[in-house]
Amino acid sequence: MLPNTLFMGQQLYHLPVCESTNSEAQQLLIKNKATEGCTVVTSDQTKGRGQRGNTWEAEPGKNITLSVILSPVFLAVRQQFYLNMAVSLAVLDLLREYGATDARVKWPNDLYVKDKKVGGILIENTINSHTLQHSIVGIGLNVNQLNFGISTATSLAALTGSEINLEQITARLLELLEKRYLELRNGKLAKLKYEYLQVLYRYQEEHLFVVNGKRVSGSIIGVDEDGKLGVNIDNELHFFDFKEIAYII
Ligand code: BTN
Repeated sequence: MLPNTLFMGQQLYHLPVCESTNSEAQQLLIKNKATEGCTVVTSDQTKGRGQRGNTWEAEPGKNITLSVILSPVFLAVRQQFYLNMAVSLAVLDLLREYGATDARVKWPNDLYVKDKKVGGILIENTINSHTLQHSIVGIGLNVNQLNFGISTATSLAALTGSEINLEQITARLLELLEKRYLELRNGKLAKLKYEYLQVLYRYQEEHLFVVNGKRVSGSIIGVDEDGKLGVNIDNELHFFDFKEIAYII
């Protein structure tokens, strides 16, 4: 089923099985076989990659595992986190449409419902002097899977109690992704950031984190231009990179 879009997912490769859709997308880019919005979908990803060198596990035939190739040449390297925000918001729009009304984005771009992860995003960028050149946006979303190896994972079906048509939800994701990407391309950066903060997990709430191996209590107050997380700890504002802070759930 092709999505109702201008370009997102109009060039669609469906691979019955592959190691990683991000790696397949990379190969398409290298071979010059991809136009903007080109999407690689698989039913069975055998070596899914996650952030921080983690793996991404998904039961075959039950979930969304796809990668989209974009050319955000209009974004300066320093603005690259806006792409993360736009993609996170698109997946969140989808989750909310499908009934997960309390879904949130856990910084930088994990999708959470309550304290369980329902999806993740892995964006791999190439840079051309001062701007982004290509981005491979990999999205893993748990849709119909009901059994997980870890207790902190969930799926849309587990949350809502109903099985979902995978083709339909994939097409809808591509539509919502195009909508958010066009906002980004049209320079609606402040709007995207504002909306991202509104749905940010634990935004402006006092919680425990781990920083430099120590437990600290702090409150997230925002993200800076580089996408670092701003946390107020003992009335002092600190900005953290991805590897410098961990949440205690
Ligand atoms: C994370 O939460 O760590 C990010 C997970 C990203 C998983 C997706 S599934 C489709 C795409 N292909 C990959 O190998 N990874 C991403």
